[in-house]
Amino acid sequence: MSVASSDFKKVTTNSVQEMKRNGEKISMLTAYDFTLAGIVDKAGVDVILVGDSASNVMAGHETTLPITLDQMIYHASSVVRAINRALVVVDLPFGSYQGNSKEALGSAIRIMKESGGHAVKLEGGIEIIESIERILTAGIPVMGHLGLTPQSIYKFGTYTVRARQEAEAEKLLADAKALEQAGCFALVLEKIPADLAERVAKELSIPVIGIGAGAGVDGQVLVLHDMLGMTHEFNPRFLRRYLDLYTEINTAVQSYVHDVKSLEFPNEKEQY
Ligand code: KIV
Repeated sequence: MSVASSDFKKVTTNSVQEMKRNGEKISMLTAYDFTLAGIVDKAGVDVILVGDSASNVMAGHETTLPITLDQMIYHASSVVRAINRALVVVDLPFGSYQGNSKEALGSAIRIMKESGGHAVKLEGGIEIIESIERILTAGIPVMGHLGLTPQSIYKFGTYTVRARQEAEAEKLLADAKALEQAGCFALVLEKIPADLAERVAKELSIPVIGIGAGAGVDGQVLVLHDMLGMTHEFNPRFLRRYLDLYTEINTAVQSYVHDVKSLEFPNEKEQY
């Protein structure tokens, strides 16, 4: 498969900004472990997000709230050990930055020092600007995240599309500009109308990466386990499944169980 893509040996925060300037779309996927991160990196994804969606996908929690900073560091360090090319962005988990800017900086420093990740991502706009600015003073790159912000699920009560109303759309635009002004190197927009996302991407010079935010942004991100079809009960309209691994794995495991029970595994060649 061949598409025009710049040949960055290592993707940096500068490279993703250069991609936006050159009109090249940025590809981003989540990963939480060494094995899958290595495959994703080798396949050429630009940015790997160690998302707090690990709370759902890896640990089976209903929301992203329970995952801890220590757990994020464990996932991120596993991912970093697998990476040769991609930029690794790590989510600051709920409760590790909302208290005050000193706490936010401390959490971001732990992520960078203990995991080896290259940047952090925080959910929120103007209300967390002070924390973002303080993290940036330590030389830690920050990615913003607006629109549907799953860490605030109990404030909103649903995972529906955000910023459909004009007032909320205007607030989102103002937040996006404030994040750029503060020094964020990129921004994720989750589950908002495509025309609003396109407007944000046009008005900002930093890359805007969308999930459920349409085609008019500078890049796309999906949760790896969703796009591989390992999860099968989550079916939002924006999700394109590239495989049906749930079925593939289920079939493989059934075959294995059958082979063990029927003494077909191991055979003569599979033993010493
Ligand atoms: O945690 C995550 O996976 C995310 C993406 C949905 C952007 O924040």
